[in-house]
Amino acid sequence: MGAEVVVEGLTKSFGRQTIWRDVTLTLPPGEVSVMLGPSGTGKSVFLKSMIGLLKPDRGRCVINGVDIVSCSEHKLYEVRKLFGVLFQDGALFGSMNLYDNVAFPLREHTKKSETEIKRIVLEKMEMVGLTGAEKKLPGEISGGMRKRAGLARALVLDPEIILCDEPDSGLDPVRTAYLSQLLIDLNAQIDATILIVTHNINLARTVPDNLGMLFRRELIMFGPREVLLTSEEPVVEQFLNGRRLGPIGMSEEKDVATMAAEQELADAGHHDGSTEDVRGVVPQLQPTPGLPERQGVRRRKDRVMSILHTLPPAAQEGIIESLTPEDQHRYNVRPHMFATVPAGHRPSPSPRDRITGDLGVAQVPQTQWRPPAPGEGGGV
Ligand SMILES: Nc1ncnc2c1ncn2[C@@H]1O[C@H](COP(=O)(O)OP(=O)(O)OP(=O)(O)O)[C@@H](O)[C@H]1O
Ligand SMILES: [Mg+2]
Repeated sequence: MGAEVVVEGLTKSFGRQTIWRDVTLTLPPGEVSVMLGPSGTGKSVFLKSMIGLLKPDRGRCVINGVDIVSCSEHKLYEVRKLFGVLFQDGALFGSMNLYDNVAFPLREHTKKSETEIKRIVLEKMEMVGLTGAEKKLPGEISGGMRKRAGLARALVLDPEIILCDEPDSGLDPVRTAYLSQLLIDLNAQIDATILIVTHNINLARTVPDNLGMLFRRELIMFGPREVLLTSEEPVVEQFLNGRRLGPIGMSEEKDVATMAAEQELADAGHHDGSTEDVRGVVPQLQPTPGLPERQGVRRRKDRVMSILHTLPPAAQEGIIESLTPEDQHRYNVRPHMFATVPAGHRPSPSPRDRITGDLGVAQVPQTQWRPPAPGEGGGV
C-alpha cells in the first residue's frame, strides 16, 4: 500500500510574498487526490515543498514518521526514493534519449544490472504507450509524448507516492482521457498514493477520490470528491465551470466593485464565454477490465462513511447515491432519504447544522455505522 502523507500547517513564502499559509491535509494511503487552483496560486510550489525541493517556513509534512521539513539531508534523500514525480515541464534531459531518461533514476539510485534496468524501462514505457520511441530525443517528440516519458520515469522506482504536476497540459482531449484511465489503472496495479495537480475539469471530476483547491493563499477545501463537486462556494463553482464571472480574475483576485459591475453585465445577458453549468457528482473512472480492483476504493468507503455525518448534505447525498446496493446495506443507509427535496432547492445549512444534522429539510442519514474492527468482517 502507498504511504500516507500528512501535511500540517504548512506555510511557504518567498521573501515577503506569502504563497500559501497554514495548509493542512492528509493524502490517504493508496488513494488518488487532485489539487485544483488558479494559475499562480502555488500548486507547483506545494508539490516541490512536499518532496523537500523547497523549504516551507513553517509546518510539517510527515511521511512514514519522518517530517521532511525538519529532517536531516540524509533522511530526506531516503524519503525521496518513495516518490515518483512528474514535473510540470517534464524535466527530461534534452541530450538523452527517452530510454536513458527513463533509466536515469534506476542507474542513479539502485545497483540493478543493465539487463534488469532494460526490463523495467521497457515495461514502464509500454505502460505509458511509448514502445518504439526509446531512441528518440525529447526535442524530437510531441509535448504529450514528453509528458508520458516523464510519467514513465516517475514510475521506475516503484514509488509509493506519485506526484503529477499538470500531466494533461498540452494533451488533446482524447489523449487526456487515455491519461486519466492510465492514472486509475496505475493506481489499481501498484496501490500508490497519488496527487495530481491539474486544470482539467473532466479529469478532476472523474479520476480522484479526493479533491482540493488552493485559492487566495489558502487551501480552501480538501476532502472527498463529492464535497467539492457539490460545493456552492462561488470560487469553486466559477472554477469548475470556467466562468469569468466570479471571484477569480485574470491576474489576481477581483475587488468587490469589479465583481458587482460584471454581475450587472451578466444580468443584462452578456455572455461570459462559459459553455454549460457543470455541477454534481459523476461516476468515477474504473480500472480497465481485467486489472485488479483498486484497493483504495474499499478503504476510502470505510473512511468516508465514518466521517459522513460531518459533510454537507449535498456531498452526503452524492456519496450515498454512488454506493452499490450491497454497500448501502453494509453501511445501513438508503439513497431515497434525500428524494423529497429536488436538487438546487435545498437550503444551505449553517456549520452548526452540519454538525447536529438538524436541517429541518431533507433528512441527513443518521448512520450508526463505524469501521468494522479487524476480524469483524463488516457484515457483507
Ligand atoms: N523559486 C521561486 N522563487 C521565487 N518565487 C517563486 C519561485 N517558485 C515559484 N515562485 C512564485 O510562487 C508563485 C506560485 O507559483 P507556482 O508555480 O507554484 O504556481 P502554480 O499554481 O503552479 O501555477 P500554474 O497553474 O500556472 O502552474 C508564483 O507567484 C511564482 O512566481
Ligand atoms: Mg504549476
